Amino acid sequence: MIVKAVLFDLDGVITDTAEYHYIAWKQLAEQLDIEMDKEFNERLKGVSRMESLERILIHANRQNDFTLAEKTDLATQKNTEYVKLLDNVTPADVYAGILELLVELKTADVRAVVASASKNAPQILRSLELTEYFDYVVDPDEVEHGKPAPDIFLRGAEVVGVTPEYCIGIEDAQAGIEAIKSAHMFAVGIGQEEILKPSGADIVLPSTETLTWSFLQTLG
Ligand code: BG6
Ligand code: MG
Repeated sequence: MIVKAVLFDLDGVITDTAEYHYIAWKQLAEQLDIEMDKEFNERLKGVSRMESLERILIHANRQNDFTLAEKTDLATQKNTEYVKLLDNVTPADVYAGILELLVELKTADVRAVVASASKNAPQILRSLELTEYFDYVVDPDEVEHGKPAPDIFLRGAEVVGVTPEYCIGIEDAQAGIEAIKSAHMFAVGIGQEEILKPSGADIVLPSTETLTWSFLQTLG
């Protein structure tokens, strides 16, 4: 396919912050006496902070135990823990192949966009020293519906002036793959085939290592 823009999810695609999200949620869940394992965590990937909390509470049938103000406090508490963990993020944490790919995209004059549900994305990109490689970072507040709705991918493509048929989206989450497909873009999944194929991934790679510009051009 002709590729004019690549839209990257951040957590779990550019770096391993997905693990920090898991640690911070698990800590909050334990405090609330809620059990949470890695399998359940898959359902939180790509999902906004408040929606993640809601899913955790529903999972334990505790969704009616808290007022909105209390839920907001719990989400803030999780974020405070998560942001502390982000202090550990350095350029060494960029996943294999990502920096090289971003350099290649710049050289090829292909737009690079971050389409992450995270409000912490700009901070993480600064810690990774990757900010300059992206043409645009979509703020999740710019769009009405979070993943699995297509909004964030469509918004990213629109801002850089590329139509979906020329876009590749890269995601590690089920909700993210669904969002890319709803946006009518080519979906590259990073992770396990059994998890991401059923969500509609066009191709699944075990890691970002083989994500080169020449490989992306062979897709579609
Ligand atoms: C996504 C993560 O990238 O961002 C989710 O996959 C997370 O797990 C979401 O809940 C929101 O992140 P933040 O940083 O705004 O709490
Ligand atoms: Mg992700």
